Amino acid sequence: MNQIASAAVSPLLDHCPESLPAAWYYDTAHHARELKSIWLRQWVYVGRSSDLPAFNVRKFDIGGQNLILVKDAAGTVSCFHNTCRHRGAELCQAQDTRLKAKLITCPYHEWAYDLQGRLVRVPYASPTPDFRKEDHGLLKVHLKEWNGFHFVSLADDPPPFDAAPDLGTDALDNWPMRDLVTGHVMVKEIACNWKVFWENYNECLHCPGIHPELCDLVPVYNKGLMAPNEAADWTPDAQADAGPLKSGARTWTMTGKPCGPEFPGLSTAQRLAGHTFVTLWPTMYVVAHVDYVRAVSLKPLGPERTELRAEWLFPRATLEAPGFDLDNVTGFASLVIVQDGEASEINQRGLKSMAFKAGRLMPQEFDVYRFQQWVRAQLT
Ligand code: FES
Ligand code: FE
Repeated sequence: MNQIASAAVSPLLDHCPESLPAAWYYDTAHHARELKSIWLRQWVYVGRSSDLPAFNVRKFDIGGQNLILVKDAAGTVSCFHNTCRHRGAELCQAQDTRLKAKLITCPYHEWAYDLQGRLVRVPYASPTPDFRKEDHGLLKVHLKEWNGFHFVSLADDPPPFDAAPDLGTDALDNWPMRDLVTGHVMVKEIACNWKVFWENYNECLHCPGIHPELCDLVPVYNKGLMAPNEAADWTPDAQADAGPLKSGARTWTMTGKPCGPEFPGLSTAQRLAGHTFVTLWPTMYVVAHVDYVRAVSLKPLGPERTELRAEWLFPRATLEAPGFDLDNVTGFASLVIVQDGEASEINQRGLKSMAFKAGRLMPQEFDVYRFQQWVRAQLT
């Protein structure tokens, strides 16, 4: 839920900037602008490689664009627009389709494509020489794999794949990310604009009031801070030698105890941190713990509706160990996510007041400010 800032300098803002215009959170025309400038351009998370079987087509949607993901026998995943090159029929209707004959066959006139998207069959018709099959493959979408997660970009020329605001995309290199398997998924629709959820994620001033259980596990959150260096009286020589979790706790579970063996490759600092956040605006954040990893992704369903998806990832041996207690792991973060969802809905309802035009950010909301500056930059 919150990024832990580097402890070397104070990140506090030196002023209290104005927040984004209120209408940006509910206006339909503005939402369409954000879909075009952000969601149909940036890298968007679409699923774990390990959750997509070979010869399976998965249909999904980004900002109203109908897309399919497919994995071939070699494990190579491709993404295409879900449209036939003949007269544009939708190729796949179900969310998951098991392919017959290892071809993607259009249900209308049965043109068939292989899993690399090449047009291989045009049955019943007798095309003249001006029609070349090789010019009529499926329309491909840029796809990127990172730590076993797949992302797509609908831009002709995609932006760099980047983590924001603090840690780089190599931050999880000490975790065996590609070997982890999904142990639990939670999908929840919340009645707010997608930016409201991110703004809530990017600050901890709400933590004392909204997250009593989390504040018990991470005592610094109880001061409304993500890290000690955000305190107004913090100085650089006040370096902490203890991690942020309360004494005796190692991870985010109901008991604070690891749910299985700790990952062997982590540094001392990563173990002490108890949680390592990597943020990939606008699509997802990943929280890596000493024993498991959680990924939370967003999808805008409309100006005031957002789908949240949380995935808990484990080593297979942890999931299969006798006595493994899944609820002890998933219960804790589920509670926090539900609390954040409710806080986001409160925010959404209030900012629709005709009297509210824009808010003011506090110095501790430096990551909210960075997020809002990022949004503004995407729109220009
Ligand atoms: Fe697909 Fe005709 S539209 S085969
Ligand atoms: Fe929160």
